[in-house]
Amino acid sequence: MSNKNILKDNVGKKAADLIKDGQIVGLGTGSTTHYFIRHLGERIKNEDLNILGIPTSYQSLIIAREAGINTTTLDEYDIDIAVDGADEVNQNLDLIKGGGAAHTLEKLVDSSAKEFVVIVDDSKMVRDLGEFPVPVEIIPEALRVVKKSLIDMGGKPELRMGVQKDGPVITDNGNFILDTKFEKIRNPQKLEKELNILPGVLENGIFTDLVDKVIVGSPSGIKEID
Ligand code: 5RP
Repeated sequence: MSNKNILKDNVGKKAADLIKDGQIVGLGTGSTTHYFIRHLGERIKNEDLNILGIPTSYQSLIIAREAGINTTTLDEYDIDIAVDGADEVNQNLDLIKGGGAAHTLEKLVDSSAKEFVVIVDDSKMVRDLGEFPVPVEIIPEALRVVKKSLIDMGGKPELRMGVQKDGPVITDNGNFILDTKFEKIRNPQKLEKELNILPGVLENGIFTDLVDKVIVGSPSGIKEID
């Protein structure tokens, strides 16, 4: 396992240990949360726990099934605790998410949870958000119009392409992603709102005022910030 993956594994295990029997758990998306989901699956099996997961993507649904976690939906249950990764975390615990194109459902699930825990390795901790481009999910018909609006707002939007570069990434909701680089984001709350009122935008990857705890893994150990 690479050094970074060891850190992800450590924070994933730490978060899995927080989950209590009987809880409904939001399952985030991304490589760090995969470790969490796998560790949670092990605990469910070893301790015979009664836990249901609510996945934030097809990816996390499939990993949850592989890990032996039964899943349900937000339509049926409220969420006790959600555990998710992030692409950037600032000192106020605001986030940029959506590196895995799942931020729309992630924001719904994470914001619905009574407790929202973020797990990251220390490379994700930043002073100001914005080195990582903000993922903006748009309906395909809005591509040209929203791109222009984002440029007018000082952003540099780029349509996210698939690995083969032969077509755009399509989200679980059937939409496109405009990865939009802004200079240092001084007021994430304001930008989050301004992006979401553009017609054609479904959701953006800035998450503000949501996080209860961040678990950070570094070579010197695990730190919890709340
Ligand atoms: C997916 C996300 C992920 O949580 C974020 O991209 C972090 O992923 P990773 O743990 O693989 O670095 O927001 O939409």
